[in-house]
Amino acid sequence: MSKKKRLSKILGVGHTKGGVGKSTIAVNFAVVAASLDLKVLLADLDPVQRSSSKWAGVRRQLQDSGRDLLSIRCVGMEGKGVHRDLLEVGEDYDLIVADAGGFDSVALRGLLVVADALLMPANVSAFEMWEFGRMQELIEQANGFRVSDGDLPSWVLLNQVGVTGGVKEAKEAREFLAEDGFKAIDRVIHSRKAFRRGAEVGLSVLEQTGRARDQKAIDEMIAAFRDVAENVLGLELPS
Ligand SMILES: Nc1ncnc2c1ncn2[C@@H]1O[C@H](COP(=O)(O)OP(=O)(O)OP(=O)(O)O)[C@@H](O)[C@H]1O
Ligand SMILES: [Mg+2]
Repeated sequence: MSKKKRLSKILGVGHTKGGVGKSTIAVNFAVVAASLDLKVLLADLDPVQRSSSKWAGVRRQLQDSGRDLLSIRCVGMEGKGVHRDLLEVGEDYDLIVADAGGFDSVALRGLLVVADALLMPANVSAFEMWEFGRMQELIEQANGFRVSDGDLPSWVLLNQVGVTGGVKEAKEAREFLAEDGFKAIDRVIHSRKAFRRGAEVGLSVLEQTGRARDQKAIDEMIAAFRDVAENVLGLELPS
């Protein structure tokens, strides 16, 4: 990574559907990025849940009580200010991971205008798939106002895929999405206890210890991050 001027990338993690795993993916991606030596900012765009901010708060308490963890800075951004705030903090970071609320909002619309890419976590059920019509409208609108050249690169990340029977489910979901012109990254995230537990206690799956540690969860989160960072955002990562 160049030590001269930072060329920060903004990764939006967003979807109008609630509970699809946006915050889970955002906080884990932030830690994976930091572990790869990227200077990362977690931006919490959800004024209702404030999941990322709460996660960062619990994490700080762990650090204050002596646990050695990578420091993740998290800032809250809201409403009309999001678009400007994201651009202003930009140069201080290699990567901003923005966790948006699970509903249509001014913040989400602002994010779509400035983001370098959008990642939409989605579960593989039909209900989730139907929600993509609304995202399609929002993305099309945002493409009319983009601050950089070109349409917003938007990718689905299939999340909470069943550990058994998941391959078929994921294949069907990809076909369903393709009919509406959406594409999903190759990597998927399975439904695993480690993802539920880690977030509650301010950790990423990388940092869980003892019986809570799940190497499969770690490997798939790192692989998904690398895929997005290298192939979608064009970041250079250490091997
Ligand atoms: N891969 C996974 N495996 C197991 N549990 C998961 C996984 N991804 C998310 N969850 C769980 O699903 C629930 C919703 O996740 P999360 O809060 O990340 O979604 P969200 O999209 O940010 O929701 P909201 O729209 O409310 O902000 C949480 O309880 C979380 O622990
Ligand atoms: Mg959330």
